[in-house]
Amino acid sequence: METHSSPLISVKNLSKKYLVKKNFLKKEYFKAVDNVSFDIEKNQTVGLVGESGSGKSTIGKLILKLIQPDEGEIYFKDKDVLSLKGKEEKEFRRETSIIFQDPRTSLNPRFKIYKIIEEPLEVHNFPKEERKEKVIKAIKDSGLDETFLDRYPSELSGGQRQRVAIARAIVLDPDFIVADEPTSALDVSVQLQIINLINNLKEKKNISFLFISHDLNVVGLLSEKIVVLYKGKIMEKGNAKDILFNPLHPYTQILIQSIPPESPLQRGKLDKIPEIEREPVENGCVFYSRCPIAEEICKTEPEYKKVGTQEVYCHLVG
Ligand SMILES: Nc1ncnc2c1ncn2[C@@H]1O[C@H](COP(=O)(O)OP(=O)(O)OP(=O)(O)O)[C@@H](O)[C@H]1O
Ligand SMILES: [Mg+2]
Repeated sequence: METHSSPLISVKNLSKKYLVKKNFLKKEYFKAVDNVSFDIEKNQTVGLVGESGSGKSTIGKLILKLIQPDEGEIYFKDKDVLSLKGKEEKEFRRETSIIFQDPRTSLNPRFKIYKIIEEPLEVHNFPKEERKEKVIKAIKDSGLDETFLDRYPSELSGGQRQRVAIARAIVLDPDFIVADEPTSALDVSVQLQIINLINNLKEKKNISFLFISHDLNVVGLLSEKIVVLYKGKIMEKGNAKDILFNPLHPYTQILIQSIPPESPLQRGKLDKIPEIEREPVENGCVFYSRCPIAEEICKTEPEYKKVGTQEVYCHLVG
């Protein structure tokens, strides 16, 4: 018998605009996230991929309730995240965490590693003796030994610092982590080590990840599901295998073509999309101006179509 359990995280019709200009005559907004919906199952890694400025970090921050959406709903363990308050909100904070792109700026340079990893435990009122045990466990689980605890961030390599950031993110035993480009600032060989570490943590500790990257290559190495973002909108989402081997949206197809097949970590640069000379259309498909196959109908907004495990934003698919 098939049992259906609800997803760990469910994002429904999320939209967020930023105020970019304001004077006494008018306010101007920029729509950073537009009607985004997807689920993350328990013990699953979902890859969120898109070029710079496409709204990836904004989505990560929205899910963790670090910023407020204009529209939409977020559920974590069936609880409405946006209405969490007091004790329940604190519990949500304990059960979720984030790893940032650049460990040089995300770790406080004046604190020793011990204090950096201990801090979340202090915030959540763990007794001192218990904290020490948990800090040591977290640093070991992140692949470093105890001697690092007595050092400062400046005494560590980039990869080691990112391991410390991961130790800090797992020290409270979270169920869900947003990993926002955690490997982008690292050398290729170190990137692979961090990807392996994240994969191991997912398996051993049942952590679900939203793994954010501009690099479909990297996302493909560890995601079970992939969400492809362009200008704040989902172009395509579905099982990773289907997205990688049978991309349906023209944008995803271009991203896949730009990955050199011979080496899994030579970057498929998302910024090298061929520029198509076409005026953007208001209220049409957001990919219209850069789409190699656009037709007249694409001057109107497409609806999402379901094709197998995939859901695609394109008039010309299906
Ligand atoms: N606080 C803010 N105020 C105004 N605009 C913002 C703010 N934060 C982000 N933006 C804009 O929203 C858009 C999406 O930003 P976001 O940081 O989510 O993109 P991203 O996909 O994470 O990009 P990157 O790959 O460069 O990190 C960008 O155009 C950005 O300039
Ligand atoms: Mg970002």
